[in-house]
Amino acid sequence: MKISKMVLGVSLALGLSVAAQAAEVEVLHWWTSGGEAKSIAELKTMLEAKGHVWKDFAVAGGGGESAMTVLKSRVVSGNPPVAAQIKGPSIQEWGEEGVLANLDDLAKAEGWDELLPTVVSNTMKYKGEYVAVPVNVHRVNWMWTNPEVFEKAGATVPTTWDEFFIAADKIKAAGMTAVAHGGQPWQDATTFETVVLGTAGAEFYNKAFIDLDPKSLNSPTMIKALKVFHKIKGYTDAGSPGRDWNLATAMIINGEAGMQFMGDWAKGEFTAAGKMPGKDYLCVAAPGTTNDYTFNIDSFVMFEVDDKELQKGQNDLASTILSPAFQEIFNLNKGSIPARLNLPMDKFDDCAKISAKDFVRTAKANTLLPSMAHGMSTFSSTQGAIFDTITEFYNSDSITAEAAAAKLVKAVAAAQ
Ligand code: BGC
Repeated sequence: MKISKMVLGVSLALGLSVAAQAAEVEVLHWWTSGGEAKSIAELKTMLEAKGHVWKDFAVAGGGGESAMTVLKSRVVSGNPPVAAQIKGPSIQEWGEEGVLANLDDLAKAEGWDELLPTVVSNTMKYKGEYVAVPVNVHRVNWMWTNPEVFEKAGATVPTTWDEFFIAADKIKAAGMTAVAHGGQPWQDATTFETVVLGTAGAEFYNKAFIDLDPKSLNSPTMIKALKVFHKIKGYTDAGSPGRDWNLATAMIINGEAGMQFMGDWAKGEFTAAGKMPGKDYLCVAAPGTTNDYTFNIDSFVMFEVDDKELQKGQNDLASTILSPAFQEIFNLNKGSIPARLNLPMDKFDDCAKISAKDFVRTAKANTLLPSMAHGMSTFSSTQGAIFDTITEFYNSDSITAEAAAAKLVKAVAAAQ
């Protein structure tokens, strides 16, 4: 009797200590496409292996605009999730609000400064201390092509914008869609920034989207880029308006379309569909951008909580995210490369290997650039102003490129 009481006591204590470590960790994200869902599922599995409960807070919508709207209303109503997918300069905006948990003790204990490239770690800090943890590095300036479509059309994969329109004409003439596109503001902006980079180069890109220099935003160079951007619309199909990005990628996968301008989360879709790079599809730098790299770093922040269990859950989540095992499996599924330095790349495909090599190469050449379309180069209000102007121009047949460039300057100024 005495013994069994003791056993009971011990197991109760054990039970309690397990319970004390288990937290229900609600995580907001927008990873709902096939490849994205497979990737985030790995985080859930690993967090649950540490004894926590994953509460999924998925808000559909590529690029995350809807997710950010929902997040704001949850925070304003005093009920933030435990963690959320937030990236780029927005981390600073949330830091200003004073609602983020400080992860600096964990970061020091685990040596994050040594584990991450500076361009990544800088983005994760607010006032010099870590408040976010990175999952990956995506490259945005890719063009995804279907080799069979090119062969049928007798077209060659373009490396310049002149070649691009020659190839697009051939694919169109052969009765297929040249460009798979989803007409949503963030997808328009993804194509737009790639065109700006490919036609005007890294220095101009920097002046326009980082410095927000009015003379660059409204310039003959920008007007030329706007014209190329608008011309691409003529090579998309009637179903393009409003289409989700992953459905556009499916058009490349199914051989309905020849090319898509999209970051390498598109590769997550090819991978989920069992397709092989170099055989079923190609990843090439968008025309004119071989020596440039627009980056997009996904990361998570934690919201400040008092509850010790939740704090433990947050630390375990952050620690899991930076673990080599997670960085590898997540990025194999997601199409991106690990944010963490010096991880073996042997399991990764050629697209990822090129991305990893070019990340280092372009950093040295000063052509590693933050993606405007993916919230890496400006605060969200400025990004929104650029999106509105670009999308309005893209969808109109009466607004001239000259008028759009003039509007870009005004819209950006008003957003400051
Ligand atoms: C995110 C990616 C995501 C893509 C489409 C981007 O802004 O960084 O992780 O896959 O949007 O949803």
